[in-house]
Amino acid sequence: MPNVVVIGAQWGDEGKGKVVDLLTEHAQVVVRFQGGNNAGHTLVVGGQKTVLHLIPSGILHAGKTCVIGNGVVIDPGVLLKEIDALRARGFLADAGQLLISAGAHVIFPWHKQLDLLREKARGGAAIGTTGRGIGPAYEHKVARVGIRVRDLLDAEKLRRRVREALAGVRDELTRLAKAAKVEDPDLDEGTIVGEYAAFGARLKEFVGDASVFLHEQVRKGSRVLFEGAQGTLLDVDHGTYPYVTSSNCVAGNAAVGSGLGPTAIDRVMGISKAYTTRVGGGPFPTELDNELGERLRKIGDEFGATTGRPRRCGWLDTVVLRYAARVNGLWGIALTKLDVLSGLEALRICTAYELDGQNITEFPLDLDDLSRVKPVYEELPGWGTKLSGARTLDDLPEAALRYVRRVEEISGVPVVCVSVGADRGETILMSNPFRG
Ligand code: IMP
Repeated sequence: MPNVVVIGAQWGDEGKGKVVDLLTEHAQVVVRFQGGNNAGHTLVVGGQKTVLHLIPSGILHAGKTCVIGNGVVIDPGVLLKEIDALRARGFLADAGQLLISAGAHVIFPWHKQLDLLREKARGGAAIGTTGRGIGPAYEHKVARVGIRVRDLLDAEKLRRRVREALAGVRDELTRLAKAAKVEDPDLDEGTIVGEYAAFGARLKEFVGDASVFLHEQVRKGSRVLFEGAQGTLLDVDHGTYPYVTSSNCVAGNAAVGSGLGPTAIDRVMGISKAYTTRVGGGPFPTELDNELGERLRKIGDEFGATTGRPRRCGWLDTVVLRYAARVNGLWGIALTKLDVLSGLEALRICTAYELDGQNITEFPLDLDDLSRVKPVYEELPGWGTKLSGARTLDDLPEAALRYVRRVEEISGVPVVCVSVGADRGETILMSNPFRG
């Protein structure tokens, strides 16, 4: 019974939500294992759009259990809004459909304030974070002063922890606010404790030991789908540091962030757009800072699902894809948004970088090197026809099929799924990771 991890093979926003939604049919359990509400997974089912930030996309399927693992950082206010919105539309009628790890860390108001004020202080070197408090929450987790979901369930413990945390952040916040010429953030212990204890009381019905549950499911032979957030190049270890998020987005973290051992994972599916996008700062070798980039942004609706920010757009980069294949151990690639490339006369795929007169094929981890590389392109013919009606590879125009084949040749990983539109049905699934 294979268990499958779905991860982003680029800088996030690859269309993971759609692929997870599609694969959920074949799984019994869907797990988020890292990140928080910096993610925004857009799903279109029957023409109706749903954006989820914390709850696994599998929640739209009846009879599946969705798990928020210990590796996620949770903003409980956002989570409760998501729960309420889903319930208002008839989903999540049974609380047993959602399990929240008691060990997941919680985002507090000071995390968001630190995130925003530190970004201001960075000025031109800002990372371009989503401002949701993700980095500071992970920082406190690692510094061993974080507050976990289980702490929300005990008002006295919560008060003690909030008091300690506030003592640790007040000075920095005051200093940052002064430098930014904004008011000192209003952080009242009693108000925060009251608000978060109320969040705890409402979330209690969903909180449990996710590791025990998952272990039991795997033992029983249930199929588990791990839903990654962000992407490989935003991973805190393997991404374009420091222009990264604060968690490990690569497949290896699926085990750590859920409380299962690595032997529970069988296959890793990497999601890649047929071109590339990036939100926020940092190097992006194939970026098209021109009319063509603008066109991709418009046709591909490349605006952040969480912040609404325009995404930077560029050609497909197979140096990135090969790197993602290496650090994630990819079994297959889902190539998304192929339809967005329709109507372009010629297409380009980056096959290598040129650095100081030499061609390199391995992704450079030195940020200065990466900022200086020039992409080496291969040109392929485009196609004029729309692709959204294609349901098998044979339905694709010859040039589109050639593009897909070339991507797998250069990346060395089979393309097992092609997405030709936003709707669940607009997908060609050649090989199902749960079956082989
Ligand atoms: P943070 O995760 O809010 O700290 O942001 C750090 C970097 O990751 C910024 O460049 C963000 O734009 C980027 N980022 C975070 N979450 C996502 C996502 O879900 N999709 C794309 N980029 C993201």
